[in-house]
Amino acid sequence: MSGTTTFTMIKPDAFEAGYTGLILQKFIENGFKIKALRLTHLHKEDAEAFYAVHSARPFFNGLVAFMSSGPIVAAVLEKENAVEDFRKLIGSTNPSEAADGTVRKLFATSIERNAVHGSDSDENALIESNFFFSHFDRP
Ligand code: CMP
Repeated sequence: MSGTTTFTMIKPDAFEAGYTGLILQKFIENGFKIKALRLTHLHKEDAEAFYAVHSARPFFNGLVAFMSSGPIVAAVLEKENAVEDFRKLIGSTNPSEAADGTVRKLFATSIERNAVHGSDSDENALIESNFFFSHFDRP
């Protein structure tokens, strides 16, 4: 059975544009419960660590620079089938391919400046939640 937790970040582009409230409202309207919420600003080293899995990719340096360029909002969300349902709600990584009504279609401007992050597996949801909120490793 799939898990009930996912992790998200509202990225610097969406935060700077003032979309944080609208985006959180969309999460809640779609059945996600906010279990943890934090406004922070990633250091370059934090962004490198969070996205370490992408370190060999050509877009890595740009991604790290962007993610440490301004405040972000990190959140742990709860819902049945959380990871899959949340990825449907936010839409494709590239907003030009995202379905109408998805968060990225509404608020993102490019594949790099794509407004929000969403975990891609139950395992990563837990790892990413613990990156920002230390108590999610406990049952
Ligand atoms: P995210 O869901 O946070 O996970 C990894 C991020 O890397 C992704 O969203 C994009 O913001 C970014 N990314 C993925 N592919 C590319 C790409 N081809 N060019 C630039 N950024 C990318």
